[in-house]
Amino acid sequence: MSGRWFTVKETVLVTGGAGYIGSHTAVALSERGYRIVIVDDLSNGSPVAVDVIRRLTDTDVAFHEADLTDTGALDRIFATEGISAVLHFAGLKAVGESVALPLRYYQVNLGSTMSLLEAMDRHDVRQLVFSSSATVYGDPETVPISETAPTGATNPYGRSKLIIEDILRDVAASDDRWQFCLLRYFNPVGAHASGDLGEDPAGIPNNLVPFVMQVAVGRRPEVQVFGTDYDTPDGTGVRDYIHVVDLADGHLAALEALEPGCEAFNLGTGTGASVLEVIDATSLVSGREVPYTVVERRPGDIAVSLADPTRANDRLGWRADRSLETMLHDSWNWQSKHPMGFEDYED
Ligand code: UFG
Repeated sequence: MSGRWFTVKETVLVTGGAGYIGSHTAVALSERGYRIVIVDDLSNGSPVAVDVIRRLTDTDVAFHEADLTDTGALDRIFATEGISAVLHFAGLKAVGESVALPLRYYQVNLGSTMSLLEAMDRHDVRQLVFSSSATVYGDPETVPISETAPTGATNPYGRSKLIIEDILRDVAASDDRWQFCLLRYFNPVGAHASGDLGEDPAGIPNNLVPFVMQVAVGRRPEVQVFGTDYDTPDGTGVRDYIHVVDLADGHLAALEALEPGCEAFNLGTGTGASVLEVIDATSLVSGREVPYTVVERRPGDIAVSLADPTRANDRLGWRADRSLETMLHDSWNWQSKHPMGFEDYED
């Protein structure tokens, strides 16, 4: 990494910066000396998260509550904030919901990205790091998955990510002033070490770790394990969980490595854990038994997802090294300190 934080304080626009990954990345960037401007419509993020970012970093992070399709608001932000690069997290992300509401997913995810790119073009800002997902690999033929593996979507959410990746490639090819990184996240979990910033899903959590944490803290009676008949060592699904703070550092590395063109990077650890391993490890770190029952497979789930993170290791000089135990310890720290998430937050 270049270490340029000592000399230059650039301003970075963080879309979706009040959400889970965006807020942790805003903290990491701010700690490196970047000035942060957050734009978030708060449809799935919390204004409390912005306050926590300010407190943790002791900086006056700028916050604009706006929808990215509001071109007037975007123009005002770009005209007044002196932005030099964008980290684009904003978007809808629930797989099941996307199957039920495809029009909404395409409208929001594609529409907001198009609006953002057009505003960037108008204001001569041409550096962007995009939140993509390992979901672009669909059901992988082999694991670990490298960036050259075939892509394919199995639901509208994943397809919206793939289409945006294609759009960014086309834009980069049209004009070599554009610099894009596509970051394909595996399974982000964990929380800030303070326990004051973490994942706070609206409604019933779709993802395993937030669900397990809510069971451990007593908000839900038991975890449902979606199938024990996969071709994996214990029959349950295996995923490449990555600590959200490692993921945040990956964005910093990507931002500092941006160059003309459009490059994809896997952000994962390369190590897998099964559903039962996650449940057992959570019982250990929390000191609470996490009850579970086995139910049918969840439609669309795959047996194993594992990153080959070599490209990011080599080209970004980045590596995710926090262990599963640290991830679950930090998730538990957040969940036990704030059982209802940001809703009942007292600092
Ligand atoms: N699981 C359960 N019970 C639950 C929730 C999940 O057993 O209540 C299992 C799943 O079957 C899977 C594993 O736990 O084996 C992980 O499931 P998650 O929902 O936490 O994560 P996914 O890998 O299914 O989904 C993640 C992201 C998606 C993304 C997808 C593919 O949340 O946004 O990876 O990259 F599309």
